[in-house]
Amino acid sequence: MGYSSTLLCLSTFIICLSLLALSSLTTADDAAVMSKLLAALSPTPSGWSTSTDPCKWENVTCDGNNRVTSIDLVNKSLSGTLPSNLGSLTQLKSLSLQGNSFSGPLPSLANLSSLQQLYLDNNKFSSIPDGFFQGLTSLHTLFLSENTNLAPWIIPTELTQATSLVRLYASNANVVGFLPDIFDSFPSLENLLLSFNNITGPLPKSFGGSGIKILWLDYQKNGLSGTIDVLSSMTQLKQVWLHENQFTGPIPDLSKCTSLFDLQLRDNQFTGIVPDSLMSLPSLKNVSLANNKLQGPLPAFPSTVTTVTNNGTNSYCKTTPGPCDSQVTILLEVAEALGYPIKLASSWQGNDACVSWSFIACDSQKITSVNFSKLGFVGTISPAIANLTSLRTLYLNDNNLTSSIPDSLATMPDLQLLDVSNNNLTGAIPKFKSTLKFNATGNPLLGKTPGMIAAVTFRESEEGKRQDERNNSKGGQLGKPGPFYLG
Ligand SMILES: *[C@@H]1O[C@H](CO)[C@@H](O)[C@H](O)[C@H]1NC(C)=O
Ligand SMILES: *[C@@H]1O[C@H](CO)[C@@H](O)[C@H](O)[C@H]1NC(C)=O
Ligand SMILES: *[C@@H]1O[C@H](CO)[C@@H](O)[C@H](O)[C@H]1NC(C)=O
Ligand SMILES: *[C@@H]1O[C@H](CO)[C@@H](O)[C@H](O)[C@H]1NC(C)=O
Ligand SMILES: *[C@@H]1O[C@H](CO)[C@@H](O)[C@H](O)[C@H]1NC(C)=O
Ligand SMILES: *[C@@H]1O[C@H](CO)[C@@H](O)[C@H](O)[C@H]1NC(C)=O
Ligand SMILES: *[C@@H]1O[C@H](CO)[C@@H](O)[C@H](O)[C@H]1NC(C)=O
Ligand SMILES: *[C@@H]1O[C@H](CO)[C@@H](O)[C@H](O)[C@H]1NC(C)=O
Ligand SMILES: *[C@@H]1O[C@H](CO)[C@@H](O)[C@H](O)[C@H]1NC(C)=O
Ligand SMILES: *[C@@H]1O[C@H](CO)[C@@H](O)[C@H](O)[C@H]1NC(C)=O
Ligand SMILES: *[C@@H]1O[C@H](CO)[C@@H](O)[C@H](O)[C@H]1NC(C)=O
Ligand SMILES: *[C@@H]1O[C@H](CO)[C@@H](O)[C@H](O)[C@H]1NC(C)=O
Repeated sequence: MGYSSTLLCLSTFIICLSLLALSSLTTADDAAVMSKLLAALSPTPSGWSTSTDPCKWENVTCDGNNRVTSIDLVNKSLSGTLPSNLGSLTQLKSLSLQGNSFSGPLPSLANLSSLQQLYLDNNKFSSIPDGFFQGLTSLHTLFLSENTNLAPWIIPTELTQATSLVRLYASNANVVGFLPDIFDSFPSLENLLLSFNNITGPLPKSFGGSGIKILWLDYQKNGLSGTIDVLSSMTQLKQVWLHENQFTGPIPDLSKCTSLFDLQLRDNQFTGIVPDSLMSLPSLKNVSLANNKLQGPLPAFPSTVTTVTNNGTNSYCKTTPGPCDSQVTILLEVAEALGYPIKLASSWQGNDACVSWSFIACDSQKITSVNFSKLGFVGTISPAIANLTSLRTLYLNDNNLTSSIPDSLATMPDLQLLDVSNNNLTGAIPKFKSTLKFNATGNPLLGKTPGMIAAVTFRESEEGKRQDERNNSKGGQLGKPGPFYLG
């Protein structure tokens, strides 16, 4: 019985009685739970015995009220199934069961609001009960990695109650489904380790602005997908392992990630030009880019960086660093405005756009035709197309192109045919010469209100950034509509 209840005993007899009852009841409960735990373990841990008070057992700690606050059974070669009432040790702060062969379902630990450290990794648990993560409001460390016998489970949204979470490790633990968009609930989260699972879908938006330092999402069975644009606002990142997934789109500008030392992006579907800002990241030590569809010049990292860029396949224009051929450079700028679609990156190999590049036709080594009709492209028409000065025909029809037709297209000397039909273009139509065969049907908003141009305000700051990029004629991103004009 505790000191404070003894004091209260002196003041009020009634309260004294009820507190005595409560106190002895919970203590007895803890002892009962501990003896159930002891009975479940095989072999018996050294220093544990039914004939002594559990608070005296080796690696068990209690508070002044004889309530169990920590149990430490790390690496003891124990097996058994944990008792279902383990969660009634309500004063538990730390539970370390890692490195054993525990099997069977995990008991519910819901509402253990004092629990800070929970180590369950390297075991053979079979399932996580519904509501397991509910009410773990003090949780700081949660280790579940290397539990390959677990029934498939998703990271549940109820984990948001663990607002002090710093480390979440669940690699090789049968995690499936999408990552829930809950990471703004964990302002202290530093390490998120989820390698070797079967997580699918995109990186959640709430990664943006988070303080995550170590992010392991490598080797997902079916693969995470979508772009990794959100990394550019994860400014605390140190180590990012995204290899062996299905990510697409270009490598974003990571120049704000000044602590990033290890970036593993190999074996994905990344496209586009490796940004110069990556090569000059101050802390970068390790980077892997192999086996993607990266385009443009072969990246040249400083000698302080260990790279795995030169073997494995990519779609760089040359095998040595340095600028690409000028027509290739122009086409890559055109592709950038479309979010560097994989269809282009797969086919556009080498440094000569006139050697069997899909959708391109040439005459005397000059590009004369670009045919992007019906490719499902999303994005904008790059003004750089006008730099293809020998271009005669340009088919952009039946895509989902937005924003306006660049005025530069009206300056192309040889352009005879421009088909932009069936897109979602807006703005004024450039003043084309009358001989141009121009088809713009199926763009209900195009040319409706020439002269009355107003930029649409974007709601998210992320979109604002994209817009700024566009003002610098950097083009759009796959899957995102460009800025458009309203009358
Ligand atoms: C467990 O108890 C033993 C004996 O008191 C001690 O040597 C050991 O460090 C403890 N282990 C942990 C992980 O606390
Ligand atoms: C438990 O064993 C693992 C694997 O051998 C080891 O890495 C870890 O440091 C050990 N943990 C403790 C607390 O002894
Ligand atoms: C945890 O607390 C919540 C809210 O008080 C309650 O709804 C839920 O049943 C509790 N869960 C357990 C397992 O005690
Ligand atoms: C991975 O999850 C998908 C469902 O998203 C499922 O169809 C597939 O069988 C799983 N793969 C493995 C190897 O478990
Ligand atoms: C990272 O780079 C260091 C040298 O800078 C190298 O020793 C280490 O093996 C690399 N690690 C990986 C995972 O590539
Ligand atoms: C890339 O090179 C490294 C060492 O230079 C080698 O270990 C690795 O197997 C190579 N990968 C491929 C895909 O060729
Ligand atoms: C396209 O032409 C413009 C103006 O001549 C020039 O500033 C720009 O660098 C060119 N872009 C490419 C990709 O050649
Ligand atoms: C352009 O591509 C479309 C779709 O592949 C094809 O149907 C059409 O014939 C092509 N047009 C020209 C002029 O080559
Ligand atoms: C344009 O996007 C819409 C909605 O995403 C889609 O249903 C439609 O098929 C797309 N159109 C073309 C031509 O790709
Ligand atoms: C075309 O753009 C307008 C906004 O300008 C949008 O409301 C509409 O859904 C888009 N249509 C398609 C088919 O994407
Ligand atoms: C313009 O494009 C539409 C839709 O692709 C097509 O039906 C129509 O025949 C074209 N008009 C001309 C004059 O080629
Ligand atoms: C980009 O253009 C939009 C629309 O004209 C404008 O509102 C915005 O201020 C521009 N941003 C920059 C950074 O110039």
